Formats: sequence, C-alpha cells, structure tokens
Amino acid sequence: MSAPSAGSPVPSPTETAVVEWERKPKSIDANLKDYDAVAKTFDWKTVEREFDWSKTGKVNLVHEAVDRHAVSSRGTKVALYYTDFERRSEEYTFQDFKKLTSRVAHVLKQLGVKKGDRVGTFLPRTPELYITILGIHRVGAIPVPLFEAFMEQAVEDRLSDSEAVLCVTSPALKSRIPRAKLPALKILLLVGASGTLESGEASYEQLIAKAPDWVEPEWLTVDDGLVIHYTSGSTGKSKGALHRQYAMVGHYQTAKWALDLRDDDVYWCTADPGWVTGTSYGIYGPWTLGITSVVIGGRFDPERWFETIQRYKVTMWYSAPTAYRMLMSAGETIPKKYDLKSLRHICSVGEPLNPEALKWIKKITGLAPHETWWMTETGMQLICNYRSYDFPIGCTGKPFPGTYATVVDDQGKEVAPGVLGNLVVKPGWPSMMKEIWRNAAKYQEYFRIPGWYASGDSAFKDERGYIWYQGRADDVIKTAGERVGPFEVESALVAHPAVAEAGVIGKPDAVRGQIIKAFVALRKGRQPSDQLKKEIADFVKTNLAAHAAPREIDFVEKVPKTRSGKIMRRVLRAWDQGLPVGDISTMEE
Ligand code: WT7
Repeated sequence: MSAPSAGSPVPSPTETAVVEWERKPKSIDANLKDYDAVAKTFDWKTVEREFDWSKTGKVNLVHEAVDRHAVSSRGTKVALYYTDFERRSEEYTFQDFKKLTSRVAHVLKQLGVKKGDRVGTFLPRTPELYITILGIHRVGAIPVPLFEAFMEQAVEDRLSDSEAVLCVTSPALKSRIPRAKLPALKILLLVGASGTLESGEASYEQLIAKAPDWVEPEWLTVDDGLVIHYTSGSTGKSKGALHRQYAMVGHYQTAKWALDLRDDDVYWCTADPGWVTGTSYGIYGPWTLGITSVVIGGRFDPERWFETIQRYKVTMWYSAPTAYRMLMSAGETIPKKYDLKSLRHICSVGEPLNPEALKWIKKITGLAPHETWWMTETGMQLICNYRSYDFPIGCTGKPFPGTYATVVDDQGKEVAPGVLGNLVVKPGWPSMMKEIWRNAAKYQEYFRIPGWYASGDSAFKDERGYIWYQGRADDVIKTAGERVGPFEVESALVAHPAVAEAGVIGKPDAVRGQIIKAFVALRKGRQPSDQLKKEIADFVKTNLAAHAAPREIDFVEKVPKTRSGKIMRRVLRAWDQGLPVGDISTMEE
C-alpha cells in the first residue's frame, strides 16, 4: 500500500452502512466476558499476582512456564505435541520439559554461557528448538531466535549485532554461520551431529545425555532481558528488539483474553519462534498459562494443516492471513475431508485479514478468525477483536484492556472518527520492548510523536471506537505477514556484480498481501534479460533469505533518488502502478 498522508478523511464503513458484522450468540462463554466493563477498571497489578515471582521476588520465565506446572497437577499434562508427518511424532509433558530444559541449561553452563549472554538458536522447528529456548532462559541468558530460512548475510547481521556467544544449530544449517566474521561466537552446539566435530563445536545429544535432570533457574528481576527479536525498519539493517522478563505479564493476559485460552485447550500457533509470534504466543503466553500446544515441522502443506487440526483435536488456532489465503486457494475439497469440529476459536495476526478470507475460514470451520494487531516491538497483542463481542468484518479491533491505542496527527493530537492518521500506543504496556539492542537512537525514533509510541502504521477509528488498519505509513514491506526492510534487500541486490543501483518496494498481491518488487539499474555493459532477473533474485535468496528475494524485477536506467541520495520509493510505487509520480522537485538531476 502506498503511504497515505495523515489527515485525509476516510469514508467510515459504519457510516456507509455497507459493513457486515460478525455477530456472536449470547451464549458465548469467553474468558473476557464484558470488554467495555473490564476495559474501564482493569489493572495489570492483578495479573502480576498470578506469577510466583510476585510472592518470591525471584523471576525467571522458565519457572513460570515450566517448573511451577511440573510440580502441580499439570505435571503430567502434555505441554507439546509435535509431528513432522514423516519421522517424528512426539509428546512432552511439563515434567519432561523441566528435565530436558534443565539438561540443556547444564550444558550451556558447562560451555560457559552466563546470565545476560545472548545465545542464538538456528534450528528447524523441532522440539529441540523449544527446549533450547527454555533452557537458555533457565541460565538467565537471552535467546536470539533465528528463522531457519535465513541465509548467511541475515545470520551474520543478527549474531554479530547481538554478539551471541553460542549458537545452537544443526549440521545442515551451520554452513550459513560465518564464524570467521563472528569473533564473539565461541561455540556451536549441534543438534543431530554425527561423526567428528570440528573445533569450537559440541554435540547437543552427547552432552545432554550426561547432564542432570534438575538445574535451578538463574534468578532474575522483572527488568532483566527475556528475548531479542530482529525486525526490519524502513532504513538500515534489521535491529534487535529486546524484551524484558516482565513481558510475560502481557503475554499471559492476552493469551487468556484475546486468544481465549483455557486449561483444556489444545492450542496451535502456526508461527515459527524465529518471529515474535512464535515466542510470545508459541511459548510464553500458552505455557505460562499451562496450556497444551501443538507444533508441526516441515513445509506449509494444506493437507497436513487440516490433518493437524483433526489429529490433535485442536480447539484454538492462531495463524496468519497469508496462510488462510493459501488454504483458500488450495480449495474446499481438502478441508471437507477432515473433521474440524474441535475448533472453538480462531485468531489472525501479521497483516490485515481481508473479508473474503475471513468468510472462507468461517465457511469451512464455522468460526471467523479474530484480528490481533501488534508488532515485534510491542511484544504482545494490543488491538484485537474479542471472542465475546460483535465486530464489523474488516476492522482491526479495540485496544486490549489496560492499554490505549488510538489514531493521531503528526503532532500527537487525536483525530476525529473516520480521519486517517498515525496508529499510536500510549507507552507503558507490560511487554513494550526495553530497548533496541545497543541502539538508543533507533529506540528514540519510536517516540517521535510526542507522548506516543508510533507504530509506523496508518489507521482510522470509527465512531464506535473500532480501529481500522489502513497500511504502513513508511516503506516497510509486509510480505506473507513477514516484515522486510527495503534497505536490506537493496543492499543484497547491489552486492550482485551486474547491479549498479537498486530500489525496492512492496507491491500489492492478492495472496501475500505484498510481494517484493525491485527496480534495478545495471552496470555498464550488462544487458537486461530474463535470465539475469532470475540470477539476481536467486542471489538474494541464497545470501539473505528466500522470503526477502524480489518476486518481480524491473530494469530501469536509473533509480530515482533525492539530491541527498535517498531512494524515492514513492516514485517507484507510482511507476509500478502506472500512476502519476507527483512532486519530484527534490529528485536529483
Ligand atoms: C506490523 C508488525 C507481531 C506479530 C507479527 C507481525 C502489521 C500486524 C496486523 C493486523 C493489520 C497487522 C502492521 C504492524 N500487522 N498485525 N492484525 N492487521 N496489520 O509483526 O513483523 O513486527 O510487523 O505488521 O503493519 O506494524 P511484525
């Protein structure tokens, strides 16, 4: 979506009365029963009391998510069902988790990891990934989860910036870790290594086999680090959002009220822990609540997805619009083969869910996915549609109780209903990022609108208080729900020997929300060809990540820049859409 300017009126769907409503039966028994009443009086202090640390003063996520359940009636409850549909189908109880995460913690300590150290995880989605992340918490270190599809440049950027001292990875993935460029990285702990280890490597299996079943958590304060997730902005390389232990208060309560999780749920969050949804709602929210989770490995496959719901009798499903649309395009015959009646609630995150996809999911499951809006930096869901209330289809929702999100102009003044503006949040919600890792200036940029945390999204609010997301207000690309910074892709492109200049934008796409489109100026003597397009796209795929590679490339004479050398992506978007380019008085000659 191109950048809409703040202040323009948007025809409010509630005024035009064309909007359809998702109506709820009166009998729905949601955890959050009366949004309006609760939102008026809710106090986060009441949630703190749900954690043992509120009594003991001793804080560690792993205690609240694992250990306290292991010694309770939930001890033998399944925490994790896992299958890859091929070789592995496993289950782990909270007691198993207590043992295994203790063993990993022992190994990490043995290898020299200390409280506050950053430890990378670069693994496929397997039980070991989850156990490792929790084991890292047990030693009071800070996990830096890397998505398994990252290639060398992406891996280097993140491990180098975080100065990770150790990375838990696999023999297949380790070749993408450029150790020579990572002086802080002392050891690779390899899951599934066979044969001889190289220097600076250790075997996960060999070491945990000899480790004890109990390691006391390193006790922390609520202000100590929890996790770092790297995310992209419109400028520069990806940056690390550091969250604090206190964030668990937000994860817990949103998992209870927005995901509506209950003790007897079988919950399936489809996100990988390489992204914040996969930790906040794949680990922290559900497991601090003691809920049973399902994780599947392997590639996206519609048959397997519906099979997962049927096999594990999934009751609560948290996924993303691109996934819903991909299931939709695979057709109705697949879901018809499976029993999906176990489902009782569905949520969506990452990009706006279009009404067509919402209705299709409702058609096959009987349930409309509920929006949850949030960001890597916010750590927790902030604007949601709740299970107990009616909502206009297409809206993003209302602020989570105890938080305040709204729409303001560039000066920070709230705009009238139906007027487009900046989507902002009042600072101070429980899981607001603590800092941008070692980059105070970047952190400050989020507070450029006085009094507010600026999301970078534009939105409007209607007369009833529903917020409607309208797109990014900056150049950040959302492709298949993943956030990609144009600068990172441009940097990867210009590293190709044929490329002189590159400018990158998000182009609207029916399935992926946006796809990455690159405008490339070739070096002298290089001839444009389809073959070269493919070669350039593959180059980004192998160096950065598949999801960050341009799906479309246009060769141009020159990439439009301002006189100070900034790429004018607004002009690229206009070119792409065949629209007038507008004011180009700042463009270089
Ligand atoms: C951006 C944050 C944190 C979850 C995964 C994405 C967009 C997120 C929604 C939604 C419309 C959404 C926004 C936001 N976004 N959820 N429900 N409706 N847009 O995290 O990668 O940090 O991206 O995703 O543009 O700013 P992220």
